[in-house]
Amino acid sequence: MTIGVVIGESRPTDVTAQSSKPLSVGEYVIIDSQDGQILGLVEKSIISSEALTDVRNFDEAVESKEVADINSRDKNYKVKIGILGFLDKLQKGQMILPAVPPLPGTSILEATQKDLGVIFGPTTEEWVRIGSLLRNSSIEAKINVNKIVSRHLAILAMTGMGKSNLVSLIARHVASLNGTLIIFDYHNDYENLDVPKMNYMLAKINPRLLPADKLAEVIELRENADKQQRALRESFTESVKQSKDFWQALEESTSSFGRTTKGYADSASRVLDKIDDAKHRFSDILDPDCGDPVDLIKEGRVNVLNISELSERQANAGLAYYLQELLQHRKDAVWERKGKSSGKKSNKFLAPIFVIIEEAHVFIPKGEHTDTKYWASKVAREGRKFGIGLGVVSQRPRNIDPNVLSQMGSLAIMKIVQDDDQQQIASAAESLSKDLLSQLSSLNIGDAVLIGQWVNLPSIVHVDEVKSKKSGSDLNAVSEWNQADKFKDIAKESTKSMIQKDLLLD
Ligand SMILES: Nc1ncnc2c1ncn2[C@@H]1O[C@H](COP(=O)(O)OP(=O)(O)OP(=O)(O)O)[C@@H](O)[C@H]1O
Ligand SMILES: [Mg+2]
Repeated sequence: MTIGVVIGESRPTDVTAQSSKPLSVGEYVIIDSQDGQILGLVEKSIISSEALTDVRNFDEAVESKEVADINSRDKNYKVKIGILGFLDKLQKGQMILPAVPPLPGTSILEATQKDLGVIFGPTTEEWVRIGSLLRNSSIEAKINVNKIVSRHLAILAMTGMGKSNLVSLIARHVASLNGTLIIFDYHNDYENLDVPKMNYMLAKINPRLLPADKLAEVIELRENADKQQRALRESFTESVKQSKDFWQALEESTSSFGRTTKGYADSASRVLDKIDDAKHRFSDILDPDCGDPVDLIKEGRVNVLNISELSERQANAGLAYYLQELLQHRKDAVWERKGKSSGKKSNKFLAPIFVIIEEAHVFIPKGEHTDTKYWASKVAREGRKFGIGLGVVSQRPRNIDPNVLSQMGSLAIMKIVQDDDQQQIASAAESLSKDLLSQLSSLNIGDAVLIGQWVNLPSIVHVDEVKSKKSGSDLNAVSEWNQADKFKDIAKESTKSMIQKDLLLD
């Protein structure tokens, strides 16, 4: 069905059209050009009224409105359409732009399921459904899971706009594909994630496996306390690492260092206080007897690692450790498969893995060094070769390291209003056009702009809601107070009846 006509100047990248009805930004249309059908995306949509232009006062506006209402030619629907490529080529996965711009006068047609289905919803198993196109809502929107594992993913949006919902959806798909997913859950949002055979656990740190400076971090020695740092470094010997009772051995070694090293008695005693403190306060997290924490991760499962109990420095040291080890396991596995064994035989993580870091701006910050950032950058650079994909999730893209962000081959961007956040994303993602960028502030919850390798074409979609996900949603304080009040009444009633029974017994 013809819904518009190309007017004015056309370019091989975009055309302007006059349409017969208002078109939505984000809607796909077909440009029926002389060289074949071209797929276009409405990037700008303007409605104007002849009669209601240059109105100087209210009375004039009311009169002009009446004129506008009876004149069917009054409204002007103008759209800017970005050219995405020849339809038949896009259906085969190739993006070919026309060399000659569509001629003014070319018809604009409505896009049908037959036109778009093959592009947005391929049927091979690596394509999984995450929702439908926002403006052509009968068309399924799918993403390519292979591409996020090999080329990484960023999910960026203001708080409460549906990032964790999308992560949950991806988790479900990975689970049904028997893939290995690891989510570092900073706010304990995923404990109740409804996926089969989920492996939920508290992230642990085995102090025996850390280098001395990281041990200093996790027991919270001050960074500039040089003497304490040295006391710990010297005391944290190989035999302490190997000993049966780790904390006791470390304490003995530290106090002996304090006794025998001139000028270090006070520092050693402060380190001892810190060790004692850490041992008690972080007994769930710092576990010298947990073996290698990476061994607790299960392959072929969705693994949720709760890091909400860890301090920021501990989480950082923990995450860095996990990333480093996971990358090493994958390298060993790949080298071994190629017959170039690195000496260490790895029996773990023989198939690719995908790691998601929530609150990525905390761990991979801009302008600041963290260990997690070092290892995340390494995974981002080398992951493709070794089959370890990285997913970063953040509500503050402006604070994420731009180098890591620009390595993310695919992006889901939901509502973002802050200009500096938008600019940071625009400079990290070439395929985000200015017009798509300008859409970000008007998206609703669950709407997302998808760009990059996980989609055949940039698209605006509405992500399916994961209904059974109990976590992450805003608390309903009013209803909970109400419930609590009812329980109080019930409790009173039952105490009363007990008292009465007791009286009766007397
Ligand atoms: N695709 C969707 N469709 C409808 N509602 C959604 C969708 N995604 C999320 N929501 C709603 O929005 C709420 C917040 O979503 P979610 O927890 O995923 O946001 P978030 O971006 O992760 O927030 P935060 O920054 O606080 O972690 C959810 O409880 C859910 O009710
Ligand atoms: Mg969230």
